[in-house]
Amino acid sequence: MGLLIKGGEIVTAESRSRGDIFIENETISSIGRDFYAPPGTEVIDAAGQLVFPGFIDPHVHIHLPFMATFAKDTHATASKAALIGGTTTFIEMCCPSRTEDALEGYHTWKQKAQGNSACDYAFHMAVTRYDTNTEAQLREIVRDGTASFKIFLAYKNFFGVTDEEMFSTLKLAAELGVITTAHCENAELVGQLQQILLAEGKTGPEWHEPSRPEAVEAEGTGRFATFLGQTGAAGYVVHLSCAPALRAAVEAKLRGVRLYVESVLPHFLLDKTYAERPNVEGMKHVMSPPLRDKRNLPILWNALQAGLIDTVGTDHCPFDTEQKLLGSEAFTQIPNGIPGIEDRVNLMYTYGVRRGALDIHRFVDALSTRSAKLFGLFPRKGTIAIGADADIVVYDPDYRGTISAATQHSNNNYNGFEGFRIEGRPSHVTVRGRVQVRDGVFVGEPGRGRMIKREPHYGAQGAKNAG
Ligand code: URP
Ligand code: ZN
Ligand code: ZN
Repeated sequence: MGLLIKGGEIVTAESRSRGDIFIENETISSIGRDFYAPPGTEVIDAAGQLVFPGFIDPHVHIHLPFMATFAKDTHATASKAALIGGTTTFIEMCCPSRTEDALEGYHTWKQKAQGNSACDYAFHMAVTRYDTNTEAQLREIVRDGTASFKIFLAYKNFFGVTDEEMFSTLKLAAELGVITTAHCENAELVGQLQQILLAEGKTGPEWHEPSRPEAVEAEGTGRFATFLGQTGAAGYVVHLSCAPALRAAVEAKLRGVRLYVESVLPHFLLDKTYAERPNVEGMKHVMSPPLRDKRNLPILWNALQAGLIDTVGTDHCPFDTEQKLLGSEAFTQIPNGIPGIEDRVNLMYTYGVRRGALDIHRFVDALSTRSAKLFGLFPRKGTIAIGADADIVVYDPDYRGTISAATQHSNNNYNGFEGFRIEGRPSHVTVRGRVQVRDGVFVGEPGRGRMIKREPHYGAQGAKNAG
């Protein structure tokens, strides 16, 4: 049985036109106008609606043992939330800690996801230690279809790598042609600043940002870029939050370093005053890098529109209020992270596209196409084209609603964007041709999602010494 999506305004990263999409099995088989629906075809009337390629979240945490607890979602809850919000593929950070075996960790993450995700997924493999086994293990993981790495320059002694380990990881990544994503802060400085603040009795969530100031993120970003330049590897800064770090990234781009930039939903919409709220209200908004001074927000929006920020992810990382309260005595114990997988598309559409801050094609590019291209999912994902996976979001631009924990699907008892108005939401969402969301409600097959295997595609490039 085929599926016909009829009469919508098809919007990709490059083009916009009214038309019909015919889907057979799992892929798009034709795109045109005034298609006749053969008997037995399911028809979605998309008249008056926008039709986008399925959105891709390039940075999520689902299974995550971190800061003495576990993030709250399962693959079942997170994927359902993702789909209701229009995300049809996510890339999860596979994050075994420094004391765990990387390959065992990789298999644990795969098993957690397999058969439990309602949408498609892939992994970035975190390298949290580099020892004599690491090279062989990473080669095996890349052969298995996980063609991107993750390193943390923060979280010393848990996820964090030394500069020596970063160098080894990037050298191998350059040889294998995989891209390395990086959390860029200076772990040593964060640790020292945390101790000074705590010793002064500054223990509340409002001290989280001063313990990781903008300069600390800019230093991490610049150092990562320098290491990329010297190894010839391709890199991707995750969750860039502020102007000084952006400047460091842009300078590296100008030197010819293959560096791409992601910023995440909270940093476009929230500022540090949210984390300065008393007690648990502030703790809800503790993440790293932290929410910043509000002067950064328009700079991030402008950089996104200009393409200096390549992608928008979420860094979805849900801890509930009970878990946040683990940090009642010291902000350093507050589990870092905020949920967002369900809200990214609607909030970026509302506060970006509808407010005139973001061109609609750049919106599709930043929230779908560019991640597909950077991470080896394109053209299977990230576009509407014949032969592509039929991951489609039929988007109702007339919907009006309000974000609330009371109505969300992510497994958490708060939402960091509580009360934000949205102007638009997905009405129908398909994953490889199957309708998983109808009229905003999950109606799909819970375990439909598949791991999408990816090939390395970053060819060798000489070291960039300039600048
Ligand atoms: O605060 C954050 N970002 N939590 C999740 C872990 C990470 O750093 O991405
Ligand atoms: Zn991070
Ligand atoms: Zn993260």
